[in-house]
Amino acid sequence: MPPHDNMTKRFYIETVGCQMNVLDSELVASGLISAGYRQVSRSREADVVLFNTCSVRQHAEDKIYSALGRLKNVKDHYPHKVFAVIGCMAQKDGALIFRRAPHVDLVVGPSQLGRLPELVDLAAAGGGPQLEISLDRSQGSHLDAKRNFTPFNPERLLEARPAAHQAMVRIMFGCDMFCTYCIVPSVRGPEQSRPPEEIEAEVRQLARQAIRQGVCLEVTLLGQTVNSYRYHAPNGTVHLADLLYRLHDIEGLSRLKYVSNCPKFITQPLLRAVAELPKVTPYFHVPAQSGSNSVLHRMKRNYTVEQYREMLDRINSTVPGAAVTSDFIVGFCGETEEEFQDTMRLVREARFKNSFIFKYSTRPGTKAAELYEDDVPYKVKQRRNNELLALQNEITEELNSRLLRQTVEILVEGPSKVGAKQDTSGDKSDNNGSVTQLGGRTVCDRIVVLDGPRSLIGQIIPVKIVQSCGLTLFGEREV
Ligand code: SAH
Ligand code: SF4
Ligand code: F3S
Repeated sequence: MPPHDNMTKRFYIETVGCQMNVLDSELVASGLISAGYRQVSRSREADVVLFNTCSVRQHAEDKIYSALGRLKNVKDHYPHKVFAVIGCMAQKDGALIFRRAPHVDLVVGPSQLGRLPELVDLAAAGGGPQLEISLDRSQGSHLDAKRNFTPFNPERLLEARPAAHQAMVRIMFGCDMFCTYCIVPSVRGPEQSRPPEEIEAEVRQLARQAIRQGVCLEVTLLGQTVNSYRYHAPNGTVHLADLLYRLHDIEGLSRLKYVSNCPKFITQPLLRAVAELPKVTPYFHVPAQSGSNSVLHRMKRNYTVEQYREMLDRINSTVPGAAVTSDFIVGFCGETEEEFQDTMRLVREARFKNSFIFKYSTRPGTKAAELYEDDVPYKVKQRRNNELLALQNEITEELNSRLLRQTVEILVEGPSKVGAKQDTSGDKSDNNGSVTQLGGRTVCDRIVVLDGPRSLIGQIIPVKIVQSCGLTLFGEREV
């Protein structure tokens, strides 16, 4: 360790929530590294501990508050440590966080993350608690909200990136859909699409980093409703399909994905772009949320089940072999058994590659919390969750088993999470030559586990599927 290293301040970030938060944590790390900090993987080694938080369900918030509670003791013993709560819960709860956890020094919302290094310095210098969040979106005009929720786009240092072969790139901020159950539009602010030239420059920079590291690059474009991306340029409006064409030929870019899609904006030009562009993955995450028209109406999703099914047909006919995944909320306000069975029917017929299933959690400040009673008992939500999950797992297993003996291309992502639990050989002593259990993904986002040297990480390779076990596929390298 060089002598000056003892002087370098260290930070640790704990991240929960969606990919937006994972990306924000990386960008925050980039900012702190540029300001002279070093990232560590254990909170007890850190001078600055940051919690990047999520408010989408009550459970996510409860977990953060209990983790914050446990830090009180640490602060008593190490008063110089700086504790920061950042992200969506910071925006939502603001000063309440200081009241519930007085040992927290900083509360910073998603739009203020660019100021974080400066705020950390202020708190470390004894400047007292710092609160930096956007104004409540409901208190001003749409334009005020746009000014107030300023996009956060710092430079992306390679050292801050979790992997050189995978990157997320935000193409839009916020959300204007206001589904009645959802807190995201109020914590992430109004929908704002980034200029295409800025996105292209960022992807080019990431691709150059990947080329220098000798790896392939997979880019995932991010937006809460990524396919409603539209940028008004002087010579016309740029949509997601146009952006895919614009990015496709960037040297060093191997795969291009985008999440999450809104069923309403799965347009024919988008489907044609996916079908035509070989680097764009034939994979659509298009949350349905429910299979019942009355529930969809109460959720203000602005489509019917019939329209959703028609959209699935268009995906399957324009992009043959595409994989579709969904999100569902069970036990939404007033959901009857019949309405729930409509959701079961949709899942049975649509045969999603997989679905994420959530029990409805009422969010104060949303329309659903104001208009409807959270009247489905917890036990019923739990039972519906299990029932839908069991059905989905059955479908996932059946679809997986069809891949047996087929050869698929995977991007090797890293050591396998499945293997990590069983592997007692010790990852650290591993070198490029020895074999370890690796995990990768097909273009349709299926996880494949295989044995191979670590030097395969970041490469796209053909793999023969030899076993389909539960929800996991096992493959062997084709030589
Ligand atoms: N913008 C994305 C997803 C945002 S949140 C989209 O629209 O697809 C991710 C998922 O959390 C949602 O798709 C929804 O299924 C779930 N979710 C959102 N609010 C919720 C709530 N109040 N209770 C339970 N699940 C919720
Ligand atoms: Fe929430 Fe709906 Fe926006 Fe998705 S589209 S973030 S579910 S309000
Ligand atoms: Fe959670 Fe914020 Fe994402 S509320 S789901 S981390 S946008």
